[in-house]
Amino acid sequence: MTLLLRRATALDADTVSSLGARTFAQTFRHLYPPQDLETFLASAYGLEKTRDSLAHPDKATWLLEDDGEAIGYASAGPCDLPHDEVRPGDGELKRIYVLKEHQGGGKGSMLLNAALEWLERDGPRPLWIGVWSENFGAQRLYERMGFAKVGEYFFPVGETRDLEFVLKRSSP
Ligand SMILES: CC(C)(COP(=O)(O)OP(=O)(O)OC[C@H]1O[C@@H](n2cnc3c(N)ncnc32)[C@H](O)[C@@H]1OP(=O)(O)O)[C@@H](O)C(=O)NCCC(=O)NCCS
Repeated sequence: MTLLLRRATALDADTVSSLGARTFAQTFRHLYPPQDLETFLASAYGLEKTRDSLAHPDKATWLLEDDGEAIGYASAGPCDLPHDEVRPGDGELKRIYVLKEHQGGGKGSMLLNAALEWLERDGPRPLWIGVWSENFGAQRLYERMGFAKVGEYFFPVGETRDLEFVLKRSSP
């Protein structure tokens, strides 16, 4: 097993797009009617959207590869979560996914640390994460990294509305 953590480029759009759709479906498929899931995957993880995100100068994505196979990724950028305290210049962990069969071995933490370090590359600043209210595993991980719940909102997945928690880590 040779692990490689690297910044993704626009050339990785296919890989990131399919990895995102696959891990989201692996984790959350049971929560939605098939039509809602399909609509959401096509829009949130579509190739064009992924390409735009990878080319965006204020965003960054990391891929974790195991013997050349992409097994997880994380993306970060400016915060656009709906919360009154969000200020221009605040950062957000936008996505973090590790394929199910690779979870629980520190790989998510590697990706998270890369994203948080990049978000604070010019010094400490407030950081934000949106997480599904019942994603207790991810919430434990974020709590350990200093994030705390400061709000809630509803996140649309097709016609379904998910209750999401808004987490914030304040700069010291
Ligand atoms: C969240 C995620 C990226 C963490 O990756 P990972 O490789 O499992 O993380 P690590 O091995 O570095 O850390 C394990 C920690 O993650 C947390 N965790 C996250 N999901 C978990 C799960 N399904 N089961 C148990 N722990 C989980 C726990 O805090 C765990 O620490 P603990 O064992 O001490 O309680 C990964 O579980 C994942 O991709 N989950 C599905 C998608 C998802 O929920 N993404 C987050 C959306 S906001």
